[in-house]
Parts: sequence; structure tokens; C-alpha cells
Amino acid sequence: MTATPTGHAGGQRDEHCPLVAVVTGAASGIGATITAMLCERGWNVVGLSRSAAKLRNAEDALAGLPGGFVGVRGDVCVEADLDTLYATANRQFGRICAVVANSGIEGPTVDIANTMPADWQQTLTTNLTGAFLTARAAARYLKANGWGGWCSLAPPQAKTPCPGVAPMPPRRPA
Ligand SMILES: NC(=O)c1ccc[n+]([C@@H]2O[C@H](COP(=O)([O-])OP(=O)(O)OC[C@H]3O[C@@H](n4cnc5c(N)ncnc54)[C@H](OP(=O)(O)O)[C@@H]3O)[C@@H](O)[C@H]2O)c1
Repeated sequence: MTATPTGHAGGQRDEHCPLVAVVTGAASGIGATITAMLCERGWNVVGLSRSAAKLRNAEDALAGLPGGFVGVRGDVCVEADLDTLYATANRQFGRICAVVANSGIEGPTVDIANTMPADWQQTLTTNLTGAFLTARAAARYLKANGWGGWCSLAPPQAKTPCPGVAPMPPRRPA
């Protein structure tokens, strides 16, 4: 991946501004790898996780890298948690210039006949509403800058449906 935010029409990145990124699901999996890559390249990252213990582990693992890391405990489906995430990033490191919407769940891996509506709903809420709320909160900060980078992760099944993962296709576009 490239750790350089893309410019957007109407604004240009201030080269003297510190590199500040927000990453959801930053304490494990792909999100943790992205976070480590950013910190290695000097980015300051504020990351979201529902687990305080995982955030503590991430803080320990990332200590000593050129970029800083601050964890925020919260749920990507809770608007107030996202407000706290972005406000923390802004307060700790300054202007936010990139957002990685990584949080997501796989959902049940059963055929559609045995997929429970509650599991379907949870998958939609996490993967769609969570990504929407992440983007909605991000827009306030990135628009104020006039530029910014946005990266949203989605699994391959989001584009190519396959048997046994009924709730997967209705995922956010990559
Ligand atoms: N694995 C693949 O082959 C693949 C391929 C393409 C795209 N993707 C996408 O990449 C993303 C990460 O995948 P992964 O393989 O790293 O999955 P993973 O290991 O299961 O990690 C999922 C991440 O999402 C976070 N998360 C889940 N629900 C959340 C919630 N309600 N609020 C906040 N965070 C939440 C988790 O954070 P906490 O548990 O710490 O809260 C965790 O960090 C997903 O969106 C996935 O769909 C995966």
C-alpha cells in the first residue's frame, strides 16, 4: 500500500502537516497490519477497537515506531464512539488526512435457509451502517481540510457471491 493521501479537487495536502490517520479495527487482523505499516512510515494513527486489552497490546507492539499510536475503545456502529475517535485524533495529532474503514465481520457461514435474521442484521449493521457512520464522521474533518484519503475494505465475496455466506454480498463497495 502507499501511505500517501491522495489530493482531492478543491484542496491540496499541506506538506508540513503531520500525517494523521484514523483506522477502525486497528488492533487485530488486517487493520493491525495497516496500522503498523503506517506507524513504520511515520504516520500518527488513532485506532478503534471494542477491546481495551487488544488496544493495550497494540500500543505495546507499536511503541518505538516513528509514528505514534493512540487507541480508542468503541464500536463502529455507535455514532458517539466515532465522534470520540475523530475528536481524539484531532486533539492528539492535529488534522486528520486519511481514514481506513477496516472494521467488518464475516457473518455466519451457513446456507441462506439456515441464516438467522438476527445474524443477517448484525452483519448489515456492522459492515454497512458502520462504514456509513465512519464515512459520515470523517467527512466533517476531511472536508474542513479540503483534501484527504479514504480507504474502505470489503471481502472478495462482496463482489462475487459464493455458497454458504449469505450475508456477505450486501457489503460496502471497496
Ligand atoms: N480476510 C480477508 O480475506 C479479507 C479480504 C478482503 C477484505 N477483508 C475485509 O478486511 C477487513 C478486516 O478483515 P480481517 O481479515 O482483518 O478480519 P478480522 O481479523 O476478523 O478483524 C475484523 C476487525 O474488525 C473489527 N470490528 C468488527 N466489528 C466491529 C465493531 N462493531 N466495531 C469496531 N470494530 C469492529 C475488529 O475489531 P475488534 O474485534 O478489536 O473490535 C477487527 O479488528 C474486514 O472488513 C474484511 O471484510 C478481508
